[in-house]
Amino acid sequence: MLNHIVDVLADPIDGSPLSGVDDFSRLVSASGHSYDVAKQGYVTLSGGSGLNHEGDSLDMVTSREVFLSQGHFAPFVEAVTDRVSHALEATHADEPVVLEVGAGTGYYLSHTLDSIEGSRGVGLDISVPAARRLAKAHPRVGAVVADVWHGLPLLDGSVNVVTVIFAPRNPAEFARVLAPEGEVVVLIADHGHLDELREPLGILGVEEGKLERMLEQAAGHLVAVGDPQLLEFPMRLDRESIAAQVGMSPSARHVEAETLRGRLDALPEHMDVTARGVLVRLRKA
Ligand SMILES: C[S@@+](CC[C@H](N)C(=O)[O-])C[C@H]1O[C@@H](n2cnc3c(N)ncnc32)[C@H](O)[C@@H]1O
Repeated sequence: MLNHIVDVLADPIDGSPLSGVDDFSRLVSASGHSYDVAKQGYVTLSGGSGLNHEGDSLDMVTSREVFLSQGHFAPFVEAVTDRVSHALEATHADEPVVLEVGAGTGYYLSHTLDSIEGSRGVGLDISVPAARRLAKAHPRVGAVVADVWHGLPLLDGSVNVVTVIFAPRNPAEFARVLAPEGEVVVLIADHGHLDELREPLGILGVEEGKLERMLEQAAGHLVAVGDPQLLEFPMRLDRESIAAQVGMSPSARHVEAETLRGRLDALPEHMDVTARGVLVRLRKA
C-alpha cells in the first residue's frame, strides 16, 4: 500500500516530496502537482511526457503469474532474497526500502519483504496490468507505474536496495536514489538460459557478453562488488508450463501465435530445461 512508501516518492516533474491526501486517493507534491491513486491501488508517476510504451501486456503478466506460481524459478527468488538480506545488514535501517524496477507481478519483491522484518517495497513497472498485480502482491508493497528510462520518481538517497530481475536498468538513476550504503542487485539471463526450448520453438536465445555490456553501461555510476554469482539449475517442465514460460517472454512477440501453438503441441509431454542466470551486486561508483 502506498502509505508505507510515500515518504520516499518524488514528484516526477520536479522531484519534490509527495504526500497522501483525501484518504490516499491522491498524492500531492510539495510544489502542488496532484496524482490520482487508481482504485486498484497503484499510482502513475510519469511526469508531463507520459509513457512511451506499455511494457508487459495482460496476457504476458498472466502467463508470468502462472509460471512463477509453479515454483520453477524458486532458486532465483531465494538467491535474490539472500542477496538483499545481506545487503541490508550493512544499512542498519529499521524500515529499509527495497525498490524493484520492472517488478512484474511482485513475485520476487513479496518473497523478499516476507523474509526481512520491517522492510517495505516500491514495486515499479511501466505496465498497468503488472501494477494492478503489484498493488495486491504484499501489504508492504506500494505500486508505481513509471518508465525507468524517464527517471525514477523517488527522492535522492531514499532506497536501501534496488533489485532488477530480467528488467531494464538505468544506472545513473539507480545511483541517485541509492542511500550511501545501498546496493543494486541485478539478475540477468545468461547465455544458455532455456536453451533446450530455442530450436524446437524457434525463439530467441540469450546472446553472449550480456554481463560485460551491463557493467560497461553502469560505468561512472555503479561498480560491481564481489564476483558475479552464476545460478544454474534444471527444471522439469510440462507443455503447459513451457507455454506459460514462452508467453511471459518477448519470444511470444517474435513468432506468430498459431505457428507457436503448433510447435508447442509438437513438444514431448515433459522436457528437462536449464535455467541459467547471473546475479550481480553493484554499489555507487
Ligand atoms: C521480463 S519482465 C520481469 C518481471 C519481474 N521482474 C519478474 O522477473 O518476474 C520485465 C518487466 O519490466 C517491465 N518494463 C519494461 N520496460 C520498462 C520500463 N521502461 N520501465 C519500467 N518497467 C519496464 C515490463 O512491463 C515487465 O513487467
